[in-house]
Amino acid sequence: MSNDALTHPTDAVAMRHALTEAATTAGYAPSIHNTQPWRWRLTANTLDLYTDRRRVLAVTDPDARLATLSCGVALHHARLSLAAQGWQATTTRFPEPADPDHLATVQVSGRARADQPTALHLRTIPLRHTDRRPVTGAQVRPEDLRAITAAVEAEGAWLHTLTADQVLELASAADHAQRTQADESAWRDELAYWTGGTRPGGAGIPDAAIPGQATLTTVPGRDFGHRGTLPVSAEHDKAAVFVLLHGRTDEPRDWLRGGEALSAGWLTATEHGVSVLPHSAPIEVVGTRQAMRAVLASTGYPYLVLRLGAVDPADAGPPHAPRLPADQLIEQS
Ligand SMILES: Cc1cc2nc3c(=O)[nH]c(=O)nc-3n(C[C@H](O)[C@H](O)[C@H](O)COP(=O)(O)O)c2cc1C
Repeated sequence: MSNDALTHPTDAVAMRHALTEAATTAGYAPSIHNTQPWRWRLTANTLDLYTDRRRVLAVTDPDARLATLSCGVALHHARLSLAAQGWQATTTRFPEPADPDHLATVQVSGRARADQPTALHLRTIPLRHTDRRPVTGAQVRPEDLRAITAAVEAEGAWLHTLTADQVLELASAADHAQRTQADESAWRDELAYWTGGTRPGGAGIPDAAIPGQATLTTVPGRDFGHRGTLPVSAEHDKAAVFVLLHGRTDEPRDWLRGGEALSAGWLTATEHGVSVLPHSAPIEVVGTRQAMRAVLASTGYPYLVLRLGAVDPADAGPPHAPRLPADQLIEQS
């Protein structure tokens, strides 16, 4: 179908509906501290994605690398939604060099047949969540790890599985990063704003998703500075597998692509019964980010650490974090 055919009024209405649906679906994307640092602008046959600086963590994430990664997940969710609804779209990343906050333009060009894996990913988007409980069950099966790695690679990033020695290096880096951050009052205030009682409605991390007691882990999880209400096992997370999402270069475009790859990998993990917990503290602090780069023998740049674990199929998992209303994130013109 050509662009001309899209001038038919029925198509224009259907396309507008599909674009609204895509931007709404993107709202399920995970983001650092559930800040949801994106904004969509919808015009005719186009969705534009912008960083919303009001929800970028100025102290924790001064370069907006984790915000951009989060926006990349939202972009991949939107692309999936359009494809699953049977629309063909072209994505241009950083379309305006003069505006670094203009992350992408997704332009619909016609109809396309949706495939089964895309339809499955779309159904998985609202089911995916972060699981901060210790990983105590079975080991992640090698075939599941291969599927997750392949999904990440298909979106242009890589996944390195840490060896036992590298997990110990990660544990030390995570501990060091958290101590460095906790020494800074501005950092503590920012964490408390997004994860404490005063967080903005529909954003931030609720107590229901934060462990109710200290967890026994090799790699320390994020210390939120207070206990939540999430019931956790007292067992050690000895079945956890740690992987490092990374890429060849370390520019905003790479972080955006890294986020798209994170989306593909995380949805695949969910479909394979594998839980995911991002660890970004070692990436947030410059010194520990360099230590993570050394783990990669300097062959690439680290974007995010992920803890993976096999999920008991009978386990419904922790509750979902809230989301901002779609009309706060989507501007229609
Ligand atoms: C880039 C990025 C970094 C994150 N870093 C952490 C982290 O260090 N510790 C943590 O507990 N959760 C982390 N998360 C998970 C978010 O807190 C979570 O996605 C958000 O609260 C929304 O919850 P949901 O994933 O259950 O939908 C991170 C997520 C993203 C996308």
